[in-house]
Formats: sequence, structure tokens, C-alpha cells
Amino acid sequence: MTETERILVLRAELHEHNRHYYVENAPIISDQEFDRLMRELSDLEALHPEMSDDNSPTRRVGSDIQKGFRQVEHKYPMLSLGNTYNREDVRSFYERVSQGLGGQPFEVCCELKFDGLSISLVYEDGRLVRALTRGDGQKGDDVTANVRTIPSIPLQLAPGSGFPKEFEIRGEVLMPWKSFDRLNLQREAEGEPLFANPRNAASGTLKSKDSRVVANRHLDAYLYYLLGDDIKGESHYENMLMAREWGFRVSDAMKRARSLQEIYDFIDFWNEERHALPVATDGIVLKVDDIRQQQMLGYTAKSPRWAIAYKFQAERALTRLDGVTFQVGRTGAVTPVANMEPVLLAGTVVRRASLHNADIIRSLDLHVGDYVYVEKAGEIIPQIVGVETSRRDDATGEKVEFTATCPECGTPLVRYEGEAAHYCPNDASCPPQIKGKIEHFIERDAMNIMGLGAEKVDEYVNSGLLRDASDLYSLHAVQFDGYWALVRGDVSAENLRQAIFPGLFDNADTADRPPFILFTADSKTGRSVSCDNLLRAIAASREVAFDRVLYALGIRFVGKVAAKSLASHFRSLDGLRHASKEDLLSVDGIGETIAQSILDYFANPSDAAFVQRLADYGVQMSMPERRQLGNALEGLSIVISGTFARHSREEYKKMIEDHGGKNVGSISKKTSFILAGENMGPSKQEKAQKLGIRLLSEEEFLDML
Ligand code: IVH
Repeated sequence: MTETERILVLRAELHEHNRHYYVENAPIISDQEFDRLMRELSDLEALHPEMSDDNSPTRRVGSDIQKGFRQVEHKYPMLSLGNTYNREDVRSFYERVSQGLGGQPFEVCCELKFDGLSISLVYEDGRLVRALTRGDGQKGDDVTANVRTIPSIPLQLAPGSGFPKEFEIRGEVLMPWKSFDRLNLQREAEGEPLFANPRNAASGTLKSKDSRVVANRHLDAYLYYLLGDDIKGESHYENMLMAREWGFRVSDAMKRARSLQEIYDFIDFWNEERHALPVATDGIVLKVDDIRQQQMLGYTAKSPRWAIAYKFQAERALTRLDGVTFQVGRTGAVTPVANMEPVLLAGTVVRRASLHNADIIRSLDLHVGDYVYVEKAGEIIPQIVGVETSRRDDATGEKVEFTATCPECGTPLVRYEGEAAHYCPNDASCPPQIKGKIEHFIERDAMNIMGLGAEKVDEYVNSGLLRDASDLYSLHAVQFDGYWALVRGDVSAENLRQAIFPGLFDNADTADRPPFILFTADSKTGRSVSCDNLLRAIAASREVAFDRVLYALGIRFVGKVAAKSLASHFRSLDGLRHASKEDLLSVDGIGETIAQSILDYFANPSDAAFVQRLADYGVQMSMPERRQLGNALEGLSIVISGTFARHSREEYKKMIEDHGGKNVGSISKKTSFILAGENMGPSKQEKAQKLGIRLLSEEEFLDML
């Protein structure tokens, strides 16, 4: 391989590793190895200025990379706020509070709702010791190193300003409009994707692994909530004034309202004035000011009863509809997308909007060339909310019709009863659907094949290496020169060498080149960690239990729970694929829809063949033998009904199976007896009586064992 070829290979690999690191948070090589590849690339680039490329990984961040973020438990959970959208909702909040306080007078602190990402800062002895993102509310990412670079967040509080020894303060990290615009201009010039809004930009920045990037992006922060065991203030407002004294940035747009009217006035004022602010806001936050009153009102599971958010009306823009295209998702669902004349909306340029489904298109009565109103839902995804019919004229085009066929594979679309979406039914060979199925197959709760994310799946399918998930089990790596190549079937290193070199750069006929994916070998070990890891994960997935295999197949409507019941009932693929509808319906939790879907699946030759291939590759197709405790119930069919005092239903079920019996769902002639608890349904009692089937109490049943 020449040095210039090596540059190309290294770039591709490093982009891939960057993605693992930054996007998936799951690096597959060590930092040292990453640095070594990066150094090798930058050395080679120095020797070959003619190969310069602005998109080379060497042009991005340096190599001084920290580890992924540590997750840390919040001392006090980070709750969210209830949302309201109109005055009526604000009034009911006000009345609820008044009632909750038994009619006491109260004040409401009105503030701006900043649109960034929330942050929790912990200070000890006046020093910033920890900064966490909200995360799931219980624990967040430790982003302390990054937060330290935000100039408006004090690292050391003003000495003698009276701060408590330990406290927590929460607020919002924001990217001011000015920084946001500058960043996007720069990204546009560098051909990088633009951030949709300052919130995404702030969040992407704060989660960056390199704090120098954060330092360069000029983030800001406003603080709005003080917590701790030692906070002196008697009201939220006082607390905020104190925090300001200690050195925090607290917004001036804060007002204590003594009536509903004063709240409305605050809302009306900022609804206009907010556009002049240096940062994005998306509403107003109302907080009962008195801390004692806050405590009286308390919390629901999700949010405080003493605070609420009022969201500003979404901004609207009018623009022209150029046309509608259709996108096929990984489930086969087809989504219509509106392409519009670019228009500025809430600070960003909007060109496309989702139209969701055929019904929406019809109810809007869309025509190509229509002037349409666009809004941002949650200020991110633009939506068409109406048509300005007064602007229709001779130039307006045809009515928009939903496509009848799949834009990816041409198959006629279907619409399932009760669903709004149209689907492409060609799940066996429509490309996005193949990818979707493989993605589902490798999920953690399914076959758990790590190191193969969505983008990799795309790449593997596009290259031809994977035609469906069963191909995973015929992958193997062949070594040649400094590389490892992942290939399928009985392709040898020699086959591949001929295909790749010299074919890499001339336009040699690649039609019958076997598909492959290249990995660089580590200079020390001679192995490729990512390739080894992937193959190891695939091999390990052969041991995944049958119930998860069943889930991994992606049979429509068969989720994790249904897969578990089916696997434990039928015990094996053979048991399941020969089951009649009645057999299926007798399983706990399996109804008509799931049963039919399973029958359809095994009746479909390509699905049946796929499962058979997996079985042939050694994937688990049966549950391990149960160790039987006895055979007191050998050959008996037992129905469980009612509620029990001594054991759970599940435990009884297991007991029946452990003693050689069979637990069935519904009473029939073949039922041996009914294990009857309290409150057995009247129709079951009647049926048992009619068929002359014995009822056993739990005590009688336990005696029997
Ligand atoms: S107070 C228990 N005040 O809005 C009270 N939140 O859905 C906690 N936010 O997660 C929040 N500006 O990220 C509060 N002035 C403000 C705020 C604010 C923005 C965000 C915050 C929170 C979300 C509530």
C-alpha cells in the first residue's frame, strides 16, 4: 500500500472511531491506539501536502481527549415543570395554589424560561466541586470539566459574601444567539452540519469530550433555583438575590406578582421583549415565592405543585410548498415530507416539514405551490399547520396525493386497520427495512451484538456484506498485509487481495468483488480490536436464550414480554412453528393479533427460511431443559384462575411445569382440573361446572405435590 492510500484508509478509520467516541459514546479502541493512528495520519499528511483535505480527522479537535462522562446520582432529583399554553391554564394553576394554601395570600415569582439545558452545580466551601446534567432526573452526566470553561459560572465564590458551606444551585446553560450564529457560519464554511437551534448547540457543546471546544464556543448560564439544608432565605426571590451576591448570574427579568393580572402583564411584556434578549427563551416560569408555602404545596411524582411553566405560542411563518417527497422508515412506515421555499422561523431557516401521514395531507387539502403556515413543534421539528387558500391561483399546482408505491423498492403500500401510517410490506428486501430488522436483531435486549450501531449497519448493508441478520453468523476476518477484512462465506485472503489491490484506486470492474469491510491492524498486536470485538459479540450471541432470540426475530407485535411467554410455553422453535392458533391463544398474554402475526410469520417462506438459517448457524432455538422436581402432574392440563394467598400465579405456573404438568389458558374438555383461587370469574365457574371439571383450592393443590 502506498503512503497516499494509507492516508485514505486512516482517515476512514479515524472518522469511524470519532463517531464511536463522540456519537455513540462507545469507543472500540484505546485512547493510545487512537492517538497512534492520528499521529501516523498527521505525519503522512505532512509528507503529502497534495493530499490535504479540510475534512480530515486531523483538522478537527486535537487528540487530548478525556474519557466518557461519569454518571452521578443527584442529591435532590431534578424534576421538570408542568406546561401550560394559555391564560386559562395559568388561572387554574393560580386557583389550585390558592386552594392548596387554604386561601392564604401568596406571591408568585415570575421568571423567564430559558431554552438551553439544565445544569446542577454543587459548591463546597465556595468552590465548584461538581456539575451534572439533568440526565434522567435521578442521575446525570458529570460535565464538571466542561462547565469550568463557562466564564459566567463562578469557580470560586466571593469570599465573605455569606454562602453556606454546602449547597446546590440549578440553572440553564445556554448558547447566546451571537455565539450560535457565529458557530453555524463557521460550520457552514467547513462543510459541517449546522445546529438546528441554540439549545442543541449548547447541549452538543456541553457534552463534548474536549473542554477546549467548550471554551471556544462561548456558553453562558443563568441560575434560577437554590437548594440545600442551610439556605437562609425565606423566599425564592430572596434566595436569588443572595445567589447574585455570591457571584452567580441571575436574570434581572424577575418579578414578584401579587395577582393574576400582574402575572398576565409579565407574560405579555416578555412575549414581545424576549426577542431582544441575547439568549433563547421559550416561556415564563411561575414559582410560588414563599419557601414555607412551597413546602405546604409539595410535589407530584414528576413536578412541584408550587411551580409551572407557561410556553410562548410557537412562531409561525408563511412559505410556498414546492413539493412532497416520501421517506421509508426502518419499520416500513412511509412518511411524507414537505419541501418548501426556505423561510426564517424562530431563528432558523426551515426548508422541510413532516406531514406525518396521508390523513394530514388530505385534511390540509394540500396542493403543490400552496402557501402554507409552518410552526415549530417544541421549536424543533417544523410542521405545516394550515394553508392560505386565499393565495391559490392559476399557478397553484396539483393536489398532493399520497404515494401508492414504496419510493425505495416500488412495492404497493398497505395500510393496516386502525393505523394512520402506510407501510411498505416488502420487509424482506426493501433496503431501509432490512437495516431496521438488523438493528433490532442486534439490540441489547435482543442478541446484544455490541459494536454494530445504526450507521455501521447502514454501511454493512450498503456494501453488500449483510443481506439480513443471519449473514452475521457467516462473517469471518481474513488477514492480509497490515489489515483485517471482514468477509462473508468462504472468501479467502487471496480472493480479497486480488479484489482490493490494485482495484482500490483504478476503476477496475468491481462487480464481482466480494463484499468486505476493512480494519487496520494494531501495530503492536497485529490484531484489530474492533473487528475482534465484533466477531466475539456475534459468537457470544449464539448463547443468547431462546426467548430473546424470539424477540430478536422482530415478528410484528411480539415484544419482549410476549416472546418470554411464548418461549416458556412452547419451549422451542419447533414447538412454536407448529402451534395452531388455538395453541397460541392458550398462552397467557397472547391475543388474536399476536397469534395471527406469528402464524403469518411462519407461513411466509422468506421469514421461515431466515429462522431456519439462524438455527443452522447454531443460534439457540430452544429453552434449556427444565430440571423436573417430580412427576405428580405428568400429563395433566391445568387451568389457573382467580387470586391466591400463598404463592403468586407465576409461582404456581412454574410449580405445575416443574412437576410435569401443563398450564393452559382456557377451560376445555381436555382440562384436568382448575387451580382455583379467590374471585374466580362467574363464566369460568359456569364453564367448569358444565364440563364437570374439578376445582382445587391452593391448599389441595399444594398437598398434591
Ligand atoms: S425551575 C423545581 N426556572 O425548564 C423547579 N426552570 O420543564 C425546577 N427552565 O428543567 C426548574 N428556565 O431546564 C426553572 N427560570 C427557570 C427556568 C427553568 C428554564 C427549564 C429547566 C427545567 C425546565 C422545566
